[in-house]
Amino acid sequence: MIEVAADVFFLQTANPSYWYTHTEHGHLEHLHYGPLLPPQDPAALAVKRTIGLGSSVVYAPDDTAYSLDAIPLEYSGIGQGDYRLSPIDAVTAFGADTDFTYRGYRILEGPVPGADLPTADDGEGVQTLEVTLADEVAGLELVLLYTVFPEVDVITRRARLRNTGDSPAEVVKLASMQLDVPDRGFTVRSFDGDWIHEAHAHDRPLSSGVFAIGSTTGASSNRHNPGTLLIAGDADDDHGWVYGFNLVYSGNHTTSFERDSLGSVRVLSGIQPQAFRWLLAPGESFETPEAVLAFSDAGVNGISDRMHRFVRTHITPRAHRELERPVVYNSWEAAFFDIDEKRLMGLAKQAAKLGVELFVIDDGWFVGRDDDTAALGDYAVDAKKFPAGLAAFVSKVAKLGMRTGIWVEPEMVSENSELNRAHPDWMLRVPGKDPREGRHQQVLDLCNPAVRDHLVEQLGALIDDNGFSYVKWDMNRHLAAAYSPHVAHPGMTAHAFMLGLYEVIDRVFGPRPEVLLEMCSSGGNRFDLGMLRYAAMIWTSDDTDPIERLSIQGGISQLYPLSVISAHVSASPHQQTLRDTPLSTRFNVAAFGCLGYEYDLDFLTAEEKREISEQIAFYKRHRRTFQFGRFRRTSSGRAERVIWQVGEGDAAIVGNFQRGVRAAPERDILPIAGLHPDAVYAVEAKPQRIALARLGALVNHVSPVKLDPTGLVMNVVSKHKSLPDGVESYRGTGSLLATGIRLQLQFSGTGHTDTLRMLGDFGSTLYTVVREENP
Ligand code: GLA
Repeated sequence: MIEVAADVFFLQTANPSYWYTHTEHGHLEHLHYGPLLPPQDPAALAVKRTIGLGSSVVYAPDDTAYSLDAIPLEYSGIGQGDYRLSPIDAVTAFGADTDFTYRGYRILEGPVPGADLPTADDGEGVQTLEVTLADEVAGLELVLLYTVFPEVDVITRRARLRNTGDSPAEVVKLASMQLDVPDRGFTVRSFDGDWIHEAHAHDRPLSSGVFAIGSTTGASSNRHNPGTLLIAGDADDDHGWVYGFNLVYSGNHTTSFERDSLGSVRVLSGIQPQAFRWLLAPGESFETPEAVLAFSDAGVNGISDRMHRFVRTHITPRAHRELERPVVYNSWEAAFFDIDEKRLMGLAKQAAKLGVELFVIDDGWFVGRDDDTAALGDYAVDAKKFPAGLAAFVSKVAKLGMRTGIWVEPEMVSENSELNRAHPDWMLRVPGKDPREGRHQQVLDLCNPAVRDHLVEQLGALIDDNGFSYVKWDMNRHLAAAYSPHVAHPGMTAHAFMLGLYEVIDRVFGPRPEVLLEMCSSGGNRFDLGMLRYAAMIWTSDDTDPIERLSIQGGISQLYPLSVISAHVSASPHQQTLRDTPLSTRFNVAAFGCLGYEYDLDFLTAEEKREISEQIAFYKRHRRTFQFGRFRRTSSGRAERVIWQVGEGDAAIVGNFQRGVRAAPERDILPIAGLHPDAVYAVEAKPQRIALARLGALVNHVSPVKLDPTGLVMNVVSKHKSLPDGVESYRGTGSLLATGIRLQLQFSGTGHTDTLRMLGDFGSTLYTVVREENP
């Protein structure tokens, strides 16, 4: 709801309120972003301007206490006395000086769709406040858009700048949003990393000066996700004030946090200014990506819940929003480039028996693509590998009861490709300099309309001619030497590339809404809200080691719901870490997301096949909870123990994960949150088994005959036999379970019983929590 009274703008969602006003000199003064407050005289919340401060620049000669440096502002400028980082740097005839003052407002029903960028979708009670500011001397008009999503407690912001003057302006920086709030002993949390090490949460106390994260790679990047948190000093997972920020954008971005000496914190977020320029001819406008803001006084889990609901109801593509994501089999880690119809059909038959619903042909299917050095751009099927063609393969897979998906990397071109030979001028490159390669590939110039048309036609035909119902869209290198002759200024290239990409995706998938798009960029290199406007899920990381995934999924899930987090079970020892993990844990972690397998099924033992069938059946039974239930992290107080819960109310699933074992383990307590306090629940450990081989020489304590722990007999027996692992069941009211179950003991070097939890290194258990019928 948006209300305007006595020059105060009151933005209300179900929980938080956001207030600002315009001062007597026309600047937008921020008043409050925090718990819900009834609209009222805001004077008590306003910064007091009693007397001028030393070394401040006074804005108006007759008002010596009015200095912009000391006022929390909604959108500042350069050159008028505010010396904090400015959200705008736009160069006109008078340099970068800008002073935007209030002109008027409009309240609009629903969101205002982005001019050329993806923006959040409509929903119940959504309204937009459009506030117009201007600086006539600079010849610029600034429109600030605030869209209120009441049901999910999110407000989005963006800015539109128009050149109202007679001469051209150059935009160097235009943030999507600025938020000036009083410091509460904040810690900044960002989600950072690299390839196979994405989205690790890092916390730093905010101190004097500026801390910024961002990307310059051309993608939102695995280095720093655009989403960040600002956590009050006394807040934790479940209590206290937390602000969450994100951007509906997939390109270069930055978010900065600046604490000034007066105790005010300024957050700016938007397009990365490095190497960015946008030319604005008279009459032209530039619109920023949409920034997403959430506030919770219920800790980080509270923010995650708001962000998750926002993504699920206003970001993901409508046709897939409510649909459960299928259980996928992907050929990559099983076969890499070594695929052909025979091999894949063999895998598909086994995958279908295990319960898989969608079979994905990953890289290596097109002509010339036997490794990663060639053929990107030439998406014609390799007839040697698929003599009957792809459509025939798709229909054979359909007979097995599965749908088929295909991998492509449309934005790229290999030097050694037909596309490059036909159009050597279609790639981004600086004339006179050698092209800079990444994974032996170049980036197509999506600023060029001919390239975009080609991709739309090529991808549309690939989908339609073969009947694919899923596409995995990859992007495996950063932009470099990003020069395009198709933009008015070289500084426009990276953003124009992104606009071109959104256009292509929209033109391919807009007319084919039923096709499920999974976005991928080496896993996690473009995990952002811009991509999620088109893709129902994103491949989170090329790292499928579940212990690594505890950090990766544990980080990314603070901002994004489990229904978009793609997670696969793979063979162990893991190809990324050489770590050896139990199959149970590989599933238990992947189940907290969109489940898939990328596994050489030819080498599965009978025990493993049985276990995987059970895993898939279990996942399907609880899929709605796993993908759409409320997700929360529960602190165990120990870094090596991770607790995740999904679901609340009548049913939940709790995962208890152990990164590393400790001899003589501590007694584990498992609290379960969000249940009805007086209702009674049954808690059962998901039955799982421990492979005999995992016990090593200890097996001789339970085996009737003496076995060589590394011998042939042990190897054969282990393929068909296993031991029960932690048979546990508990009962109690919601309030008892919130207090915490004292779990069965862990293995501690003194023998095995059926109820003992055999966790060791990397062990885990899933617990189902079901409300019992009322007697
Ligand atoms: C990237 C992806 C992988 C796989 C390969 C294929 O690394 O993240 O999942 O598709 O490319 O080359």
